Amino acid sequence: MSGPGLFISFEGIDGSGKSTQARLLAEYLRGQGRDVVLTREPGGSAGAEEIRRLVLEGDKDRWSPETELLLFTAARRDHLERVIAPALAAGQVVICDRFADSTRMYQGLGRADLRGLVDQLHALMIGREPDVTVLIDIAPDLGLGRALSRGSGEARFESFGVDLQVRMRAGFLALAEEFAWRFVVIDGGREVAAVAGDVARVVEARLP
Ligand code: TMP
Repeated sequence: MSGPGLFISFEGIDGSGKSTQARLLAEYLRGQGRDVVLTREPGGSAGAEEIRRLVLEGDKDRWSPETELLLFTAARRDHLERVIAPALAAGQVVICDRFADSTRMYQGLGRADLRGLVDQLHALMIGREPDVTVLIDIAPDLGLGRALSRGSGEARFESFGVDLQVRMRAGFLALAEEFAWRFVVIDGGREVAAVAGDVARVVEARLP
């Protein structure tokens, strides 16, 4: 399911500013005449956006960790088939706000130790990694404060509290070492423009 385009994902804990950075990168690359698809997970296709509501709204115990993993994977499969793979095949740059690394973190070590299951399902049903993953790293209390102040109604994961954010931050940094060939870690605790400048530099160096 790969193609000649470039697949960039953004990762980070809730409130890290990665969605803003993904949007700014899309604007920057479009300004340079690149054909860019800006998308997000969970969601990004009609079916996956329906699943997004199921996983992000409601009580935190609404799904078991295993069921939640299946739902996120189903959403990703639909998104990959209908949006990401066709765009890459057409030579476009795909910028995705979260991808499989979020499942490795939130479902893989968030509520239960399911990393083995996450990897098996990924190999079976997804089988694609981004070419570049930008990790926007930020202190957990700062991130959670920002995320909660949004009041978006999608607070199911934020409701697991700061302890989850602390573990997710450490987990993402460990993942950046595990997949060092595609990860770039950027300090998100600075002015938006300074972070965006770093992101643009890093991505530009990897563009075909
Ligand atoms: P967002 O706030 O970046 O839109 O992400 C929504 C939430 O979904 C966030 O708390 C992390 C969670 N999430 C998972 O638990 N597993 C996943 O695979 C993805 C993509 C997101």
